[in-house]
Amino acid sequence: MKGIILAGGSGTRLYPITKGISKQLMPIYDKPMIYYPLSTLISAGVREILVITTPEDADAFRRLLGTGSDWGVMIDYAVQPKPEGLAQAFIIGEDFIGGDSVALVLGDNIFEGAGLTEILGEIRDVEGGAIFAYEVSDPQRYGVVAFDEHGTATSIEEKPAEPKSPYAVVGLYFYDNDVVDIAKTISPSERGELEITSVNEEYLRRGALRVHRLHRGDVWLDTGTIDSMSEASAYVEVIQKRTGTVIGSPEVAAYREGLISSAELASLGKAALKSGYGQYLIEAARD
Ligand code: DAU
Repeated sequence: MKGIILAGGSGTRLYPITKGISKQLMPIYDKPMIYYPLSTLISAGVREILVITTPEDADAFRRLLGTGSDWGVMIDYAVQPKPEGLAQAFIIGEDFIGGDSVALVLGDNIFEGAGLTEILGEIRDVEGGAIFAYEVSDPQRYGVVAFDEHGTATSIEEKPAEPKSPYAVVGLYFYDNDVVDIAKTISPSERGELEITSVNEEYLRRGALRVHRLHRGDVWLDTGTIDSMSEASAYVEVIQKRTGTVIGSPEVAAYREGLISSAELASLGKAALKSGYGQYLIEAARD
């Protein structure tokens, strides 16, 4: 399975900060935002990753992530000239995806939790589509999925004024290869974007969409606003300091997946010792 991290967009919700820097390069506590979704893909078994950015920010992402060799994965890059929708990722990434299935993660989404890790361990390949729903208090800000009394998904709507359920669709999506053709056939929404919700609606219409409900104990953070960014930073700081474990580390995810050895993890840690991040890596290498 291939993986795509979508890290473009205009970042207008974070103006003026994002006039000078891409949102997904900004820190969430002690590491760049994109480290979190990158770790999620590595934990999901993805080894070939396409990072899609704006043309202006492409060099900065290359500098940060390189070829992926530190983490035993391959990272490729593509640009999205204009933010014309999440589903455009599959059109931009068509050659990269080839004949494979694909996981898409949004560059500003953070996932954490044992339940999710377990599900990710199971989704090593997918027929149709697989998405995740998370109960929230403000569903109108998201894609919303409703269920019937048997727990089967019945509808998906993008930012509905009157949500039919409290379940938001999170920014992590798994699809079979049909997604490339589906992305090419959907029409732009009223806001002029190729919506990921339209892709999900098509899979739902085909009876080929699995919706996993995440548990309350799992954590999903969308860091799209300044408040949600600082809340996410506070969350990561508290958990890391309390438990001594690191959240959103591609190095640790790669180590757990057997992509790098404990000696390699420790040596990556030594290189980042001065910042404190390295200490977590060295401790993880000892576990
Ligand atoms: O976070 C989950 C939600 O993400 C879903 O529930 C919604 O169904 C989905 O549409 C999306 O909603 P958002 O309003 O949060 O999407 P936003 O426009 O903020 O874009 C999400 C990220 O993707 C953001 O980091 C910018 C990036 N992006 C966005 C667009 C539209 C791109 O890289 N290219 C784009 O064309």
